[in-house]
Amino acid sequence: MAIPQSFIQELLTRVDVVDVVGRYVQLKKGGANFMGLCPFHGEKSPSFSVSPSKQFYHCFGCGANGNAIGFLMEHTGMGFVEAVKDLAAQVGLQVPDDAASPQDRERAAQQRQQQATLTDVLEKAARDYQKQLKASPRAIGYLKGRGLSGQIAKVFGLGYAPEGWRHLAGVFPDYQSPLLTESGLVIEHADEKGQDGQAKRYDRFRDRVMFPIRNVKGECIGFGGRVLDKGEPKYLNSPETPVFSKGRELYGLFEARTAIRQHGYALVTEGYMDVVALAQLGFGNAVATLGTACTADHVQKLFRFTDAVVFSFDGDAAGRRAARKALDAALPWASDTRSVKFLFLPTEHDPDSFIREHGTEAFAARVKEAMPLSRFLLEAAGADCELDTAEGRARMASQARPMWSALPDGALKSQLLADIAHTAALDAQDLLRLWAPAGGRGQPGSASPRTARARQEPRDHGAGPERDHGYEHGGGYGPGAPRRRQGQAATQHAWHGRSSASRRGLMSREDRALGLLLSHTPSWDQLSADDHHLLAELPAPHGPLFAWLEAQLHEHGHQPWAALREALRGHEHEALACQQVERCALTPGAEEDAEELGGVMLRLRIEHLKALEVEAIARAGNDPAELRRYADIQAQRKALEHQIGAAPV
Ligand code: UTP
Ligand code: MN
Repeated sequence: MAIPQSFIQELLTRVDVVDVVGRYVQLKKGGANFMGLCPFHGEKSPSFSVSPSKQFYHCFGCGANGNAIGFLMEHTGMGFVEAVKDLAAQVGLQVPDDAASPQDRERAAQQRQQQATLTDVLEKAARDYQKQLKASPRAIGYLKGRGLSGQIAKVFGLGYAPEGWRHLAGVFPDYQSPLLTESGLVIEHADEKGQDGQAKRYDRFRDRVMFPIRNVKGECIGFGGRVLDKGEPKYLNSPETPVFSKGRELYGLFEARTAIRQHGYALVTEGYMDVVALAQLGFGNAVATLGTACTADHVQKLFRFTDAVVFSFDGDAAGRRAARKALDAALPWASDTRSVKFLFLPTEHDPDSFIREHGTEAFAARVKEAMPLSRFLLEAAGADCELDTAEGRARMASQARPMWSALPDGALKSQLLADIAHTAALDAQDLLRLWAPAGGRGQPGSASPRTARARQEPRDHGAGPERDHGYEHGGGYGPGAPRRRQGQAATQHAWHGRSSASRRGLMSREDRALGLLLSHTPSWDQLSADDHHLLAELPAPHGPLFAWLEAQLHEHGHQPWAALREALRGHEHEALACQQVERCALTPGAEEDAEELGGVMLRLRIEHLKALEVEAIARAGNDPAELRRYADIQAQRKALEHQIGAAPV
């Protein structure tokens, strides 16, 4: 969804950055500005300044800066649209949404209202559970027995759900309210009726220590409840509700935000108790998945807060399996600027028990020695493979392929290719050749057209792909430019080995721009607003795909292709998008791509101007002013062509 710039400006004039920041950071007036401790890096004396006149914050310590929207995104991890909506709601503005019908808007408003109501209900319960904890020596004794201080219990809002089937009836006078079941606090037996003729209801959480689960805004969205003694299940969790999704939420993230910045990484554990215990013992940067495998959504969320993630797992088989899942979840996000590591604890230990037995320093040392993603990938690929046999090495290579493919393009990916090839005792080029027919298309070198699109639109001499077009040609896209060596080898596409004219014939500029932008979204930012407009206005299928990409970037920021690929599922033009990215795939050197994109855009713009010229001429008969327009457009086009003349692409 694209939010009009005019609305953003209107919004920024209505909100006060001092208020927005002030909700999270204690600010003191100092001269014209407000000062506080920077929430983005650890500091003891304030160097974080907020300017009411400029409506801007700036940290003199770490350089963080931005406006109210930027602050919310940075501090809470909200996406752009989410932050805008949040601010708009605070000042009573309605975010315009051209695409949505009134019914859609109505539904969305209802949904937001419902979510707000549900979190209110959950927070009310959380406050009561906290109160009950103070009144229960047994529950307090349990937490103390696990080494937790009252202070840390308070930070995490720990509570106690008392015994009894309908304790919450004393908290919520309308115990029959659908909100109680929708929030997961109360369970209803639809087919059992009580004497009053109403369905039988009872509290979900009874006689349990309660861990409130908060979203990044700090609102309570669910609970985990632990038995005090032995009992099954050990932990009972809130069900999935409109406000709670286990696959997306991380326990402790709200509490950990600042510590994650201070430590420079997030530590992902498997348990509630791990998070709370670690926080008490100096690792406030810990979070936990909620009894589920780590998902790509989890990892994406974490990377909004930090560039480094350390996963911690038990050393046993179950821990290994969980780590393997986390690896898969992390691969699409493991760009060159990020670090993903895996910490394997001794069997029978979780972080909580380990740090209590061996101490903080021993744990810190383990974190330091954690296994980098690259090594774990190689280990995982080589699992169950006898690497001293050709069969084993081949198996390793084939197990490595999907993992390697999921990585975003970059230096890490290129280096891992070399490592995998080395382990497989293959030449890297041979390995790529082996992997080339990704997506189950035609075999390399076969005469069958590789793609449906190439078949439909053989624009160049009607030729399908040829066999044996040597990837040894340095060709690429600039005449003689020694680029794309890997790409050519990998894809073996016909167009790679040919002259640039015939290559263009098979791959349109629109296709090329699509491939380049989807595989490297930061390039989008290098284009002008005019370019964005031009791309989004192209005829289908390209225009709609570019518009979709723009909306994605607004909503979620930059994403590696692997993540975009997921988002594209079911899109009308999914196949075309994947095909173009595949053509661009396996090319290191994003800089060259950016350069190339510039050339492609220039040509698209020339084509666009030509079309405008034709239109202007057609109208000139009725409106002489169109002749002037025609001349202007032509001059623009000539200027662009002159640029190309100077730098042939
Ligand atoms: P563990 O069984 O490893 O427990 O479950 P733990 O975290 O070490 O808990 P303590 O130390 O015994 O208190 C790890 C996580 O799996 C989920 C919970 O999120 C738990 O923190 N889990 C476990 C459940 O959801 N239900 C269960 O019955 C057990
Ligand atoms: Mn434990």
